[in-house]
Amino acid sequence: MTREPRAAGGRRDDDTDDCDGHCSECPGGGEPHHPSIFSDDRGAMARRDYAKLLATVGGLTAVGSLAAPLAGLTRVFERSYTGPVYSDGVYLVDGEGERVAESALAKGEKTTVFPEPRPGIAKAPTLLVRRPEDAYAGATNLEYTVGGYAAYSKVCTHAGCMVSNEEGEILVCPCHFGKFDPVDGASVVGGPPPRALPQLPVTLSSDGYLMATGDFEGPIGPGGE
Ligand code: FES
Repeated sequence: MTREPRAAGGRRDDDTDDCDGHCSECPGGGEPHHPSIFSDDRGAMARRDYAKLLATVGGLTAVGSLAAPLAGLTRVFERSYTGPVYSDGVYLVDGEGERVAESALAKGEKTTVFPEPRPGIAKAPTLLVRRPEDAYAGATNLEYTVGGYAAYSKVCTHAGCMVSNEEGEILVCPCHFGKFDPVDGASVVGGPPPRALPQLPVTLSSDGYLMATGDFEGPIGPGGE
């Protein structure tokens, strides 16, 4: 399995759980016991509603109409927020909020990044992969890649779990083993997901950091077909 590297000044994919094992709900021992919306355990109500929220945003409908009173959602979007997840010029940041430098990943590695926080939006998990530039083909929008980097939504298009595992070069969703090929536009190569993970157009800023040039090319998460 590919090692999950640290992005510039950042932390690994499995570090995105908000619980550090010392919250009021933890039994002690330093081990976190409850998932955040960014963890990969299936069935969490927060994630399902979060996926619905993302799908709603992807369809440019009103987030404020959702009724689920989950505090975690407000960490991602303010309830009145209806704008894009990314837009031209929004930097990608790691779990610590640090911008992701061009040198953050070696070829063959991946990490989880987010849009740089701004009014109305805090986090939206995005898979950033780096492969040899000539490895990309098929459904990959090459104009959306830069320096071997490609970025995709981390939210599975089947039921909204986080696509956090790998089998060789293939990205795997742990919930129902949906599989996506990151060098073929994150197209589905196994399991029940109905469509590819939407790709995010990225480029390098003049000072050498990854930034978006627009929003995801399609709806995020389940639905949106
Ligand atoms: S939620 Fe990803 S395969 Fe079902």
